[in-house]
Amino acid sequence: MTQQTSIPAEEFIDAPTGWVRILDREALEIVRPLIPIVLNGQRLVLFRDEEGELGLIGRNCPHRGADLCYGRLENNGLRCPFHGWHFDRTGQCVEQPAEPEGSPMYKAIKVPMTPVEERDGGIWAFLKDGDTT
Ligand code: FES
Repeated sequence: MTQQTSIPAEEFIDAPTGWVRILDREALEIVRPLIPIVLNGQRLVLFRDEEGELGLIGRNCPHRGADLCYGRLENNGLRCPFHGWHFDRTGQCVEQPAEPEGSPMYKAIKVPMTPVEERDGGIWAFLKDGDTT
């Protein structure tokens, strides 16, 4: 495994619609399995959660736009470095630390996500009209 503590350089990928191989599987075999991706001009973050599953979600936090690439990988998701909103691999917000206990507000918050899977030694993303879903 490659030793790495900082954020890898952005990967710029232009691709047609459908399932597209975006990286080799080994690209995420790093200490902090997270890579910034610009896919057809859209800024995304690819990460592997603690269950070994992949997430490919929008990079800008919907709160104040912080770059989620600088967030913490924890509890099967990515926690925003600014105010701590926590997103799972589907882009769904699962926690807002500053909200009153019991607040359901987080349920209405989601960042865009692109379907992603591993197969044939690669990491594949599904592009629908070049957009995230
Ligand atoms: S900018 Fe992400 S939680 Fe505030």
